Amino acid sequence: MNILITGGAGYIGSCATLKIIKNYKSHCIILDKQETINLTKLIQSYNKNLTFYKVDLTNYHQLKEIFQDISNKFKIDVIIHFAAYTIVSESEANPYKYFHNNINSTLNLLELMIHYEIPHIIFSSSASVYGKANYIPINESHPLNPLSAYALSKKISEDLIIKYSQKGINYINLRYFNPAGSIDNLGEEHNPETHLIPLLVKSLIEGKTFRIFGNDFPTKDGTCIRDFIHIQDLVVSHLISLEHLLTGKVINETFNVGINKGYSVLEVVQKSLEIFKNKINPHFKYIFDKRREGDVPILLADSQKIQEMMNFKPNYDLEDILYSVWNYEMEKISL
Ligand code: UFG
Repeated sequence: MNILITGGAGYIGSCATLKIIKNYKSHCIILDKQETINLTKLIQSYNKNLTFYKVDLTNYHQLKEIFQDISNKFKIDVIIHFAAYTIVSESEANPYKYFHNNINSTLNLLELMIHYEIPHIIFSSSASVYGKANYIPINESHPLNPLSAYALSKKISEDLIIKYSQKGINYINLRYFNPAGSIDNLGEEHNPETHLIPLLVKSLIEGKTFRIFGNDFPTKDGTCIRDFIHIQDLVVSHLISLEHLLTGKVINETFNVGINKGYSVLEVVQKSLEIFKNKINPHFKYIFDKRREGDVPILLADSQKIQEMMNFKPNYDLEDILYSVWNYEMEKISL
C-alpha cells in the first residue's frame, strides 16, 4: 500500500507515519514544507519505507509537478491530510495566513486527487469547529460554530471535501479533541509551543512558572476542561479509518476522536504534581493568569459514533500521556 501523507513532518503526521510503517510495512510519501526533527528521526529509522518531497501545498503548479513525479513511481491508494497551521490565537491575529494555507492546501489536493484518480482521503479536522458547546458531551450532530479563523479553515476544508465526494472521492473526517503525548522518540515540537501538556511538563522539569489561563470559567474549579487523547490512540483512529475506508465499510463520514472524559487544566497540573512528586524541579510553581483569548470553557467528546461504526476504543488516559511526555522531554535532555 502507498500512502501519501501531507504534514508528515509535523507532530501528529510523523507519529501516524511511524505507526503506519510499523503496522503495514507500507510506503509513505510525505509532503511537507518543513524539515523537522521528527522527520529526520523517521528518515533515519525508516528510510526504505519513506519518500519525502519538500513542497508548499498552496503552490498548485509545484504540487502538480510532484504528483506527476509520484504517479510515475507509485500508485497512491489514499491520502492522509495533516498539513495545516494550528495555532488558534495566531489565526485570529493573521486570518489570511490560515485561510490561504489551510484552505488552499486542501483544495489543491482535492483537485489533484481527481486528476490523478486517487480515491480516498482521511482529513485531520478539529473539535474547534463546534465552537462554544451548547451541550456536553459534543456529538457530531452538534451545530458547527467555528469561532477562530483556524476553526473556520477546518470547517471550510471539511465542506470542500464533502463537495468533492460528489466527484467520487471517498473521505473520513476526524475531528480531534486535544491530542497529546509521544510515541517512541517522536513528540510535540511546535515552535512556538502553546499547548498545555508539553508546556507544563517542561516547566516541571526546568523549574519554571506555569501559567493557568483563567480560573473564572463556568466549570467545577473555574479552569477549562478538555478531552485529552493520547497520540497513540489518535494514530490508531487513523489506522482504523484506513482499513474501513479502503475496504469500503465506512465512507464519507465524520467522526469525533476523543476519550469521552474531561480533565480541567487545574486537574492536569495536580495530577502531574502527584505522579512526578519527587522528580519535579523545586523552582516549579503555577499561577493563575487571565483568560487566553478564544478559549472555550469545555470541549468534551461524545465519541460513540467512532466506537460503534469502527470499533475504536481508546486505551490510554491522562496519566499515560503525562508519563510519555515526561520521558520524551527527559530523553532530549540526556542526549
Ligand atoms: N493552557 C494554560 N496554560 C498554558 C497553555 C494552555 O492554562 O500554558 C490552557 C488553555 O488556556 C486551555 C487548555 O490549557 O484552556 C488547553 O489548551 P491547549 O492550547 O493545549 O489546547 P486547545 O484546547 O486550545 O487547542 C487544541 C488544539 C487546537 C484545537 C483545539 C480544539 O491545539 O488545534 O484543541 O480542538 F483547535
